[in-house]
Amino acid sequence: MLKNDLYLRAHRGESIPRYPVWLMRQAGRILPEYRILRSKLSGFKELVETPGLAAEVTLQPVDRLDVDAAILFSDILVVPDAMGLTYDMVEHRGPYFSETIRSEADLFKLDGEVDVKERLSYVFEAIKLTKEGLNNRIPLIGFAGAPWTIFCYMVEGKGSKTFSEAKKLLYTNPVLAHELLGRITDVTIEYMREQVNSGVDALQLFDSWAGILGREQYAVFGLGYIAKIVKAFEGFPFTVFSKGALGSLIDMANLPCTALGLDWNMEVELARSLVKETKTLQGNLDPCLLYANKKTIEGETKKLLNSFKSPRHIVNLGHGVYPDVDFEHAKVFINTVKNYETKYA
Ligand code: CP3
Repeated sequence: MLKNDLYLRAHRGESIPRYPVWLMRQAGRILPEYRILRSKLSGFKELVETPGLAAEVTLQPVDRLDVDAAILFSDILVVPDAMGLTYDMVEHRGPYFSETIRSEADLFKLDGEVDVKERLSYVFEAIKLTKEGLNNRIPLIGFAGAPWTIFCYMVEGKGSKTFSEAKKLLYTNPVLAHELLGRITDVTIEYMREQVNSGVDALQLFDSWAGILGREQYAVFGLGYIAKIVKAFEGFPFTVFSKGALGSLIDMANLPCTALGLDWNMEVELARSLVKETKTLQGNLDPCLLYANKKTIEGETKKLLNSFKSPRHIVNLGHGVYPDVDFEHAKVFINTVKNYETKYA
């Protein structure tokens, strides 16, 4: 039994004395102890692939920020890596794949059969160690990238403002696009299933590049695959965070997941009117708010909390916390939520 299960109760729509709060990308760069550990290592991948270290970094924000959920320290790019397309995390630049998938012939760069249990054993080991370290204090969230976002990196090979190579493929070779998206989906389902078997209490899909597709394309190349994944976990606490996909929210109301993540462009009341009471909403303050002074952070956080009209909310930022944010400011945000009693106890 978890000592603090507010996050899970919010997923289920149960009564709660206060709203749960955590930060996307909380495990990492905003904490000085993370930066110290990181500076001693060869790189990001060493941290991700060493279970003891990944578990340690997962627990750092739990101790320091006192959040209501932990998120496993890892990266969405371990999935293409396991499929045979390895990445490097280049300092100050981001991910880089030396090989990309842009034609049928490129599919041969991928492994035909992916032994997920074996290839990603370091993740499952990190989950087990993290669960031991958490000692039932709060739930642990496992995660993966949504197929569309993983596809973007596998086609483009690196970050991009437009991901126009990835989008180009949707117009020039939709058959290949569907083949690749299907393969990513199958590996992701197995990956998330093994995360659950290893002990995670909830799951989240990050679709960071959802917003670059129009509603119709997102339905076909994004949500169709997300629906397949979510269906495999029906009844399990599951958040779908499709950043920038305000125009698709009405379609997402039909996904069999328990929660939807909102970015700061999605007005909470409008989102609620579109998805009704069938889902918990997570979010959605502007990550840049944490650059403001403490009084402003507190005021804006209370404004968000006052706008909630049901217990089905998990408080978070509308995207990952930025690395140069002062963690004391993050703490003001978290404490404001923790001191706010709901009407739904
Ligand atoms: O939320 C957490 O704290 C758990 C850990 C986590 C990381 N990446 C660690 C990380 C999670 C959930 C992610 C998800 C992720 N990774 C996404 C989806 C969420 C989002 O932000 O949109 C994406 C698109 C990636 C891919 C990725 N990883 C990029 C583009 C980069 C480089 C840019 C950046 O954000 O730093 C990374 C690197 C990365 N992943 C770091 C961390 C802590 C920084 C690496 C470092 O320590 O140098």
